[in-house]
Amino acid sequence: MTKEEIILANRDHLFPAVFHYYKEPLVILRAKDQYVWDADGNQYLDFFGGIVTISVGHCNEQVNQKLHAQIDRLQHVSTVFANEPQAALAKRLAQITPGQKLTKSFFTSSGTEANETAILAARCYTGSTEIVALRHAYHGRSSLAMSLTAQSSWKLGPVTQAGIVHAVNAYCYRCPYGLTYPSWSVRCAHDVEEVIRTTTSGRIAGFIAEPIQGVGGFITPPKEYFPIVAEIVKKYGGIFISDEVQTGWGRTGGKWFGIEQWGVQPDIITSAKGLGNGTPIGLTIARPEIADAVKGATISTFGGNPIAATAAKAVLDFIEEHHLSINAAEVGAYLRDKLTELQAKHALIGDVRGMGLLQAIELVEDRESKKPAITQALAVMEAARENRILLGKGGLYGNVLRISPPLNVGKADVDEFVRQLDASFIKAQAALAVA
Ligand SMILES: Cc1ncc(COP(=O)(O)O)c(C=O)c1O
Repeated sequence: MTKEEIILANRDHLFPAVFHYYKEPLVILRAKDQYVWDADGNQYLDFFGGIVTISVGHCNEQVNQKLHAQIDRLQHVSTVFANEPQAALAKRLAQITPGQKLTKSFFTSSGTEANETAILAARCYTGSTEIVALRHAYHGRSSLAMSLTAQSSWKLGPVTQAGIVHAVNAYCYRCPYGLTYPSWSVRCAHDVEEVIRTTTSGRIAGFIAEPIQGVGGFITPPKEYFPIVAEIVKKYGGIFISDEVQTGWGRTGGKWFGIEQWGVQPDIITSAKGLGNGTPIGLTIARPEIADAVKGATISTFGGNPIAATAAKAVLDFIEEHHLSINAAEVGAYLRDKLTELQAKHALIGDVRGMGLLQAIELVEDRESKKPAITQALAVMEAARENRILLGKGGLYGNVLRISPPLNVGKADVDEFVRQLDASFIKAQAALAVA
């Protein structure tokens, strides 16, 4: 198909809710390591990785060799038959969860399903139904996951499920209480207790949160936040669910999981995205007694799929063998410094935040009012495309630029990316000035 035919077929034969970045959709033809190529043969430096999904580089050779061998050996069996890739992955995961306390896995094909499974397990284990989530959260696109999500643009249709309440999040740049960190001992953390006491029966099934809110715009809480919240959740009998769909697998630097950055022991971890490096996989991994509370039988046709499980195990091996979580910490710190330098140069950049190779810049019309710079964010995205770099967009207002390259990029990649991002700001502002 030609580029035009692809764009036309997308428009005519996909749900219109399938939206694309940019004025004209970017048609990607192939990818390798940190680069992708479009239908016109242009090369881009990919600092978004799908959506925070390419953890070890596009079409990683070591991962793909194992995939090629597996696809010719056994492609599918479903969860009603045992198979080695699923068993080997489950065993490996049990060895790397925080404190090695989460040891039983349930595999699916997406982050949405992973969260569905986690909520089910929390409800089965506690006998309660009520769940506390956070404002600005994103947890997926099923009816339940959209109900957990707390950004209106990602809650489609008339369906919202009962029994889910939302506490304020730790969004220091736009503190819901108008406070400046570290004043008033992280008041937002205590809102979890306030919400439990005033909007639930007081017997909650659980609490779900992203250690760093991904779609929300890489909103990064202060160090005190999660330890306080974890105590509150425990006090009211809830299960602590860490949604690591974006923050898992070394991305935040130095640790396998984002929640470990705050020294908090979760009861369940969910993940997807980077675990498969693009091969569809969803993971719910729980303390054994919580997994055991899901009584009766359940199936997932593609859960533990031999191809997906082989990819995930190969990704974990690659991350470990190449010390990529350390690389994420080092190159992430380098990237952060460069972004802070850009902030000094461009008044549009109100905030720089994130951890490891999960970094964001929030654009504002002026630093005083912090009015979200929505048009400007779109213009920078367009200019970045022209300058052959890819990055993501996010935040409640769509004014946050998200940066999440593969974990094996180097400082030279960062230099090139930041050079082009700088040029994109200049280009975007020039374009807006004449518009
Ligand atoms: C934190 C988080 N949880 C869950 C999901 C849903 O994952 P999926 O799109 O694989 O269903 C996402 C997707 O962006 C996510 O970022």
